Amino acid sequence: MNILIINGPNLNLLGVREPDTYGNQSFDDYLSILQKKYSSVKIDYFQSNSEGEIIDKIHKAGFSADGIILNAGAYTHTSVAIADAVSAVKSPVVEVHISNVFKREEFRHHSFLSPVCKGVVAGFGMDSYRLAIESLI
Ligand code: DQA
Repeated sequence: MNILIINGPNLNLLGVREPDTYGNQSFDDYLSILQKKYSSVKIDYFQSNSEGEIIDKIHKAGFSADGIILNAGAYTHTSVAIADAVSAVKSPVVEVHISNVFKREEFRHHSFLSPVCKGVVAGFGMDSYRLAIESLI
């Protein structure tokens, strides 16, 4: 089984960025824990701050990956183009958020991605990614 995790804008700063909201673990550290825990699953990782690069990656992986875990960061709330990319591909896409976006500002309550994703995991900290992997397995 192969799963691709895509992190969008500002998520390269996990561990440093707003630790009260996003915790103090870097994604690289968390990823190696995930890869050890799910050693029979091939877990690839891609991060970009650019909308177009995220779309290109969804196109590239979305016909062969068994699942894509997508934390599109703030693009979740703005990007029709990423939603269209998710609709265009065959692989199931799970939307993930570290924070509980529904507890936060109103503008974070709307997602262009939720209607086209298989499901949504939000609010469990970094564990949201693990729960998304479990759902795909
Ligand atoms: C986020 C929530 C988004 O609203 C925010 O813009 C992010 C991170 C999360 O993982 O909680 O960048 O997707």
